[in-house]
Amino acid sequence: MAKRGNFATKFGVLMATVGSAVGLGNIWRFPYQTGVNGGGAFLLIYVICVLLIGIPAMTAEFIVGRETHKNAVGAFEKLDSRWSGVGYLGVLTGFIIDCYYCVVTGWTLYYLYLSVTGSLLGGTVSEYASMFHNFSAGVVFPIVTLVLVIVITGIIISKGVQNGIEKASKIMMPMLFILLVILAINSCTLEGASEGLNFLLIPDFSKIGLDSLLAAAGQAFFSLSLGMGCLITYSSYFTDDVDLAKTASQSALIDMLVAIVSGIIIFPAVFSFGMEPEQGPGLVFKVLPNVFTQMGFGTLWAIMFYLLLFIAALTSFISITEVVVAYASETFKISRRNAVIVVCSLFILIGIICSLSFGPLADVTIFGMNIFDSMDYLSTNIMLPLGGILTSLFVGWSLDRRIVETQLKIDSPVKYKVLRVYIFFLRIVVPIAVTTVFIAQFLG
Ligand code: PHE
Repeated sequence: MAKRGNFATKFGVLMATVGSAVGLGNIWRFPYQTGVNGGGAFLLIYVICVLLIGIPAMTAEFIVGRETHKNAVGAFEKLDSRWSGVGYLGVLTGFIIDCYYCVVTGWTLYYLYLSVTGSLLGGTVSEYASMFHNFSAGVVFPIVTLVLVIVITGIIISKGVQNGIEKASKIMMPMLFILLVILAINSCTLEGASEGLNFLLIPDFSKIGLDSLLAAAGQAFFSLSLGMGCLITYSSYFTDDVDLAKTASQSALIDMLVAIVSGIIIFPAVFSFGMEPEQGPGLVFKVLPNVFTQMGFGTLWAIMFYLLLFIAALTSFISITEVVVAYASETFKISRRNAVIVVCSLFILIGIICSLSFGPLADVTIFGMNIFDSMDYLSTNIMLPLGGILTSLFVGWSLDRRIVETQLKIDSPVKYKVLRVYIFFLRIVVPIAVTTVFIAQFLG
């Protein structure tokens, strides 16, 4: 067997995890979900989900990954093959997410192209809205960009990822963060910004339904890259001196912060430009060009923003694809390169169908949603939380406690106390919280 690589430094480990976590989920998905789910109350529930469910579940994935040093399926097979279904569920979920993630990453690429060619800025609010509609409902550009995204990812992945991922993440992630903070400060100075901040930060529970609870839990899983074995795969590259609980907490907090900062960029602008927050998936693409247009050196900001967003999306896309490719090549005993070719061809095929659901296939609906939305809903709101609960149950109830103790380096009475609380979360709190939300949704 080929020698497995490792992430070289602790900062690299953190940035690679953050690189997987921070992506379209924070900057594209979080604002639009907050918009359609009523604002502040959604944010509050999302934060609670990250803290109470996300961090324990993330630590559980890390334990499974570093203990086994294997991919998502292999890890469960090594520890207890009765649970390997959780690994397969993860691969399937990753596959579905990839098929629509490439569509939105393609949108980012298109907006980067517009910024570089100087044709993005100078429009009006309604022009930007129709520009997005015309583009996303089209055939040629969305398909060309999504194919490009998949080809770029395929090339990077077939060359092996660790080195590249670690290096790129260490530089790009901090840069992205600084840029986001600058944009957030800029948004706060817009006229009427306070209305947007109120929308984001002041909870109005009358706007929250049962479906918003599930959406907030799903968003937490999606944004943290949880519930599909991605972090099992990443932590299989961690060295022994990495503190798992600390890495999980830090990554989750950074990820949450990036989402909130993105909200602070988007919502003041939404209200300032007289737009509606409930725009759905096109929200940030319709809002941000207005922001850049009114900023000095707008083109420069736009290029930097879309470039970093594209790279953030790419690092997440790579991390999802890695789960599918690693599984395919190891299970079907084909080379990494061939696995990449097969998997990426399937992504292109289904990605195109997904993309067309904004245009020619808009009338095709599943449970009242178009193809794109239904794939997003199924994978994020159902499959990720399910994968997260099952991993928590596995580590909480079934995994040998000594493994948990070794992985978490439990060596003092105080730490034993904390461990007891942690196991209680994995056994009871996480499964019951998520199951309740599931059941409430289907009864409601
Ligand atoms: N967390 C990534 C994002 O926010 C998406 C992702 C989901 C990555 C699941 C890996 C696994 O964009």
